[in-house]
Amino acid sequence: MKIKYLGHAGFYIEDGDFKALIDPFLSGNPKAKASVDEFDDINYIFVTHGHGDHLGDTVEIAKKTSASVITNFEISLYLGEQNVTTHPMHIGGRTKFDFGTVKMTTALHGSGIQTPNGIIYGGNPCGFIIERNGKKIYHAGDTGLTLDMKLLEDENIDLAILPIGGNFTMDVDDAIRAVDFIKPKKVVPIHYGTFPVIEASPEAFKNKVINAEVIILKVNGEYTYICLNLPTKRYNHID
Ligand code: NI
Ligand code: MN
Repeated sequence: MKIKYLGHAGFYIEDGDFKALIDPFLSGNPKAKASVDEFDDINYIFVTHGHGDHLGDTVEIAKKTSASVITNFEISLYLGEQNVTTHPMHIGGRTKFDFGTVKMTTALHGSGIQTPNGIIYGGNPCGFIIERNGKKIYHAGDTGLTLDMKLLEDENIDLAILPIGGNFTMDVDDAIRAVDFIKPKKVVPIHYGTFPVIEASPEAFKNKVINAEVIILKVNGEYTYICLNLPTKRYNHID
């Protein structure tokens, strides 16, 4: 499984036929290196909430690739009106897809969608647990520290993607507490440094986390997440 950090909260994940984006905020993102033009072959786009720095370029990419957008019911309605294919879910739900399973988790945040005609209600913000080939990735979305994260310990998360930038989300200290609640094997810090108001030190986060491996991803750098525990047979079956 190849995981590429696109900056802010955005990711590109590729594993065989599975090619997905999470929160593709590229246009207008001062730290993004990738552009919409690079993504011509995407099956799924995960959107955690309606804010512009997460919904980002979803409509344009979904339209040109025919990707299905997995997001909450309210954002699905909004995207559906723009002829974007969606798979609506809601918090607590887990669904089987052709690539694996997805569970929508709680996030403590907002989700309003800014449009030229005013703000549209975007339902509840969320995070995602994406499972494929027996490995689980948790993308927290934008969220403050919540006690709900303690429930995620039972999910046996392999890789947790957590905001650390403060102001709009958890800061470094709260993200450290989140790691303690979730107990993932590996952690990637996100949602910092894009704008001055969310400056934070991923190195400080890395130095203080003792119970998980912290991986600081460079924007557009690739991280290959190898599934070590599974027989090859399982891959063949799912691919
Ligand atoms: Ni937000
Ligand atoms: Mn955000």
